[in-house]
Amino acid sequence: MTSAIATHYGYVMRVCVPTETRVGEKRVALVPDIINKLIRLGLDVSIQSGAGLHAQASDSEYEKAGATVVSGDVLKAADIVLSVQPLTPEQMATLKKGAITISFLSIATAQDSIDAAIKAGVTVFSLELVPRISRAQSMDALSSQALCAGYRAALVGAELSPRFFPLLMTAAGTVTPAQVLVLGAGVAGLQAIATARRLGAVVSAYDVRPASADEVKSMGATFIQLELESLEGAGGYAREMTEERAAKQRELLTPFIAKSHVLITTAAVPGRIAPRLVTKAMVDAMAPGTVIVDLAAETGGNVEGSKPGEIVTTAGGVRIWGGKDVPSQLPFHASMLYSRNVVNILTLMTKDGVVAPDFEDEIIAGSVVVHNGELKKEVVKK
Ligand SMILES: NC(=O)c1ccc[n+]([C@@H]2O[C@H](COP(=O)([O-])OP(=O)(O)OC[C@H]3O[C@@H](n4cnc5c(N)ncnc54)[C@H](O)[C@@H]3O)[C@@H](O)[C@H]2O)c1
Repeated sequence: MTSAIATHYGYVMRVCVPTETRVGEKRVALVPDIINKLIRLGLDVSIQSGAGLHAQASDSEYEKAGATVVSGDVLKAADIVLSVQPLTPEQMATLKKGAITISFLSIATAQDSIDAAIKAGVTVFSLELVPRISRAQSMDALSSQALCAGYRAALVGAELSPRFFPLLMTAAGTVTPAQVLVLGAGVAGLQAIATARRLGAVVSAYDVRPASADEVKSMGATFIQLELESLEGAGGYAREMTEERAAKQRELLTPFIAKSHVLITTAAVPGRIAPRLVTKAMVDAMAPGTVIVDLAAETGGNVEGSKPGEIVTTAGGVRIWGGKDVPSQLPFHASMLYSRNVVNILTLMTKDGVVAPDFEDEIIAGSVVVHNGELKKEVVKK
């Protein structure tokens, strides 16, 4: 009997939230504030005790919000599981047949979890696959988390730099503002620009998509125009560079990089390792005290020599901060925004207290990876 059918017999479907198990993951998939929305949809909510610890959400707040706090395993009884990271193969194996999971899940790297989901006969939705159409904006967890990462990148740059960001007129004389360069002006890059601007830095930015130029300018930053073809790809994303184009881009950007005090890199191409924008030779040519914040460190790095979760200091006195679990470094607001994204997609799937995804819907069809144990053909193609 599937969970949806069970509901017709008077059974209330149960949404469960486990404690995240991946080391360094401090977010929780559901914050107390939003639980009333699920209860109003006719759903029951169970939270594993301690799940919200790092996001400042205590067990008692969850209880006050109407959830049941469960010590130990919360997954066995779940009809729907909300998590940030994909469930591990071991967790997938404990789910009942027909259960639904909603989380981030990269089809390139979560093969073990996908195999376990097929074996368990469950349905898996990946937030990475939610189509980036206007109707899905409120469900776009990639954007909400990239926003957190971009904000954090600017703060890290300001923190590690030996300079002030703003222009200061003091009795001891004038302090000139820091020059911040942002490479990759997507969601994270634009938020880094906005944050660095608020701190008073002079900001310039470059992106391979010409569409980003107006967005950069609207933030009060300068867009760097290079004599290179644009790399606008499908769905508003960038296309991969050829090695020849990459070398040309690096050459043309070198003078801009050399004069920046803080360099923030956020460039990404979906499904590919991060493009190499800055080589070791370019880092070596930077002035001592320059700070590089590489948000792409976990996916190969935009900057040669960056290491995820580490600050590398070069012989020339340049510090390279490699991003690792960056949205998790703002666990309160990253969890709040993520919760809204998952609740919005769950709301789309729910009618009269029954979670029954409509696979004719573009958002549902686009984000499903496994349906009742069957791998979707579109996913295999991707
Ligand atoms: N619902 C929606 O309509 C929606 C939602 C989110 C984002 N978007 C759009 O999608 C686009 C990108 O989103 P994202 O931030 O998730 O992208 P992303 O994380 O895939 O990439 C980050 C940025 O890196 C840039 N980049 C890639 N290769 C580069 C290179 N070699 N040099 C310099 N920059 C490079 C990309 O153009 C992008 O702007 C933006 O246009 C954004 O407005 C649309």
